Amino acid sequence: MCGIVGYVGNKTAADILLDGLTSLEYRGYDSSGIALNIDGKMKLYKAQGKLQNLRNIIKNDYAEISKSTIGIGHIRWATHGVPSVENAHPHTCNCGKVAVVHNGIIENYKELKAKLESKGCHFKSQTDTETVAHLVASKYAETQDLTEAVRLATKEIEGAYALAVMHQDVKGTIVATRRNAPLVIGFGEDENFVASDIPALIQYTKKAMYLEDNQIVTLTSDSAKIIDINNNPQTLKTETLPWEPVALSKMGYKHYMLKEIHEQPDIVRNVLTGKLKATDEQINLNEVTLQKADLKELKRIQIVACGTSLHAAMVGKYLIEDFCEIPVEVEASSEYIYRKTITDDKTLVIGVSQSGETADTITAIRLAKKKGSHILIITNRPDSTMAREADSLVPVNAGIEVSVAATKSYMAQLISFYLLAIYMAEVKGSINSEELNELKHELIMLPQKIDKVLTNKEEIQKIARKFSGFKDFIFIARGINFPTALEGALKLKEISYINATGYSAGELKHGPIAMLDDSMPVLSVLMKGKVYEKILSNAEEAKARNARMIALTDSDDIKLDDLFENIIHVPEISEILSPALAIVPLQLLAYYIAEFLGKDVDQPRNLAKSVTVE
Ligand code: AGP
Repeated sequence: MCGIVGYVGNKTAADILLDGLTSLEYRGYDSSGIALNIDGKMKLYKAQGKLQNLRNIIKNDYAEISKSTIGIGHIRWATHGVPSVENAHPHTCNCGKVAVVHNGIIENYKELKAKLESKGCHFKSQTDTETVAHLVASKYAETQDLTEAVRLATKEIEGAYALAVMHQDVKGTIVATRRNAPLVIGFGEDENFVASDIPALIQYTKKAMYLEDNQIVTLTSDSAKIIDINNNPQTLKTETLPWEPVALSKMGYKHYMLKEIHEQPDIVRNVLTGKLKATDEQINLNEVTLQKADLKELKRIQIVACGTSLHAAMVGKYLIEDFCEIPVEVEASSEYIYRKTITDDKTLVIGVSQSGETADTITAIRLAKKKGSHILIITNRPDSTMAREADSLVPVNAGIEVSVAATKSYMAQLISFYLLAIYMAEVKGSINSEELNELKHELIMLPQKIDKVLTNKEEIQKIARKFSGFKDFIFIARGINFPTALEGALKLKEISYINATGYSAGELKHGPIAMLDDSMPVLSVLMKGKVYEKILSNAEEAKARNARMIALTDSDDIKLDDLFENIIHVPEISEILSPALAIVPLQLLAYYIAEFLGKDVDQPRNLAKSVTVE
């Protein structure tokens, strides 16, 4: 949520900042801005709306702007104050010499603001961030030292922040710090970078260091000095980033979302690599550090997650309960944290998150940790806050996901849950090995089946075109595919803004059926297995109310042709693994509907890739 980039070196800073912000645009996109030191003067450039608006402003003044080789930039997802030029970062103090960009929320900004106003500070924006600019300026006036001013300011700030700060009189220097919000430093030849996320750096350097909470870095073009909040010097610990810049390009696809959907067969292979070697070998999941004896004794598992990750968690519950016979509760992190949470050292708490930075989930796992639970994190970002808090870390290796609508990370989370559930069942001996070996074989075959669905995309495109004019959509399923219906509906509403809802098919008759008529498409996730016939009956009930019937199925039963107006066929698959196949056509359906409607697929309105506020 929001993106920060800073550069100090010998190149045109504005170019590097704009490139960096472009690659962070998926984190927020309601306004943007940069601060540059041009000929000894602090200059701010800001725009409301998409980054292109800032690019246009910069183009008009480029001759002047290109002189600067230092700057900080920001792309915003509004929390305090509407999206506007005034509220866009960077923010500055009365004299305009301090510039600040900020991710996170300053929780005590009202008290700080009142204090600063009483000392004569004039606020120009409605943001919490502006307090930091005034606070740093007042500390600088006392100390004449920018690092010290930032350090003293952070002692008074409560909340979550990643900050990058410049001062007009402190030439060639950026000071940056963080608390509960990610920040990474990148090291180049006579140039250094700071950013809230790797995509902003990776095309310039792979040498980097993740800043820890309360560390403060003072960056110049040829040095990086780190202290902690108590002024103790800290060691620079550089690492080589595992990402390739090409991973962040669209590779010829129109949108990142379409590219990421197509990456899924490889994602499944990646997640299985090294863990599932052969069908008759046990799953190798060294990442689970919970002792096998403790695992056997587990009385309960709780899984916390949000959005798409929550849907993966729901499939995970089904698998673990089915294979291991341990009761599993799944809850939205935002609900888990504001009630009496009952957990203990006999409970395993699993946090699932693509970004590893979702504030609700971080709070939930911290709460459980305090109560003694073992924390297992399934995340795509081993460099994230959640990963650092984990007792066991199961990285899902889906590569950086750029599109705001999660697709490949969901697939990777699902596969991780299959591995985890099989691993736990093998440790517990709770299921016969033939059944598990069959599932392992199917997992190995899964990428080919996903490939087949992808080659059938023209069919899905036609259905998408036909149904793109509808205002509402219902997805129904039962059993292990109920989360598939929820996720299919979430994908559609996120990127097309169509009112799409997922229901358990059996619940249709208890209320939602009242909405059905010929203006309502009902998509049934109808995978062969225990609940197939039941869903079929529920679909009949919908058909009897004239709903527009679509099926997603691995069945070739000709009876379906009478019941459904359109059928999306997928290769046959066991019911237990079917969520990992059935979701792919639903991702494509949502994608093509949004594309026909001309929506901004990769950056849907009001959303951001990682939600770092509760
Ligand atoms: C997915 O398409 C969404 N953009 C959103 O629901 C997301 O899954 C949710 O915010 C959780 O994010 P996380 O996985 O990074 O924790």
